[in-house]
Amino acid sequence: MPIEAIRKRRSIRRYEDKPVPDEALEQILETIRYAPSWANKQGWQVMVLKTPEARNLVSSVLEGNPAQKAVTEAPVLLVVCMDPNASGIQNGKEYYMADAGILMDHIMLEAADLGLGTVFIGLFDEDKVREALKVPEQWRIVAMTPIGYPAKMPKERPRKELEEILHWEKW
Ligand SMILES: Cc1cc2nc3c(=O)[nH]c(=O)nc-3n(C[C@H](O)[C@H](O)[C@H](O)COP(=O)(O)O)c2cc1C
Repeated sequence: MPIEAIRKRRSIRRYEDKPVPDEALEQILETIRYAPSWANKQGWQVMVLKTPEARNLVSSVLEGNPAQKAVTEAPVLLVVCMDPNASGIQNGKEYYMADAGILMDHIMLEAADLGLGTVFIGLFDEDKVREALKVPEQWRIVAMTPIGYPAKMPKERPRKELEEILHWEKW
């Protein structure tokens, strides 16, 4: 599954008005448990928002984000919250952002494998989202993603060639 899911995943910003089956959502949520994290701290909490009221509320504070509409269109919204202290901070590196990224990737790839769309939403006014969802101060709100059936499959976005990225044996 991984390579096919990796290849077919796209950021989906338009969704069909069609429910996500409970089994599919459960399967996606189950992948959260298997995500690696620094020292296995699993310093995350995930909100699952299905009601239009909750999703509309979040959308109302995503003004200007290209994925704003996606949050109201898709029937499920996941919000990933991290406790930086629980996740671990060493040598000035705050591992919670890495942990959250991996968690999101698990979610996005499992969804892609099931024919469902997602989009990593990382740009938002955290205070406004916190206020809307009553998230306690201890938790950073790092990312969210809608989950639903894609209404439009975007073309592949350009990627760097490996030669531009890799350093074999020496820099
Ligand atoms: C950390 C991170 C934050 C992102 N934040 C947003 C966002 O706030 N809104 C949005 O529409 N897309 C967001 N994206 C999606 C990227 O724009 C998208 O992944 C990139 O353009 C490549 O396109 P693809 O996902 O279709 O391959 C984010 C992606 C990442 C990894």
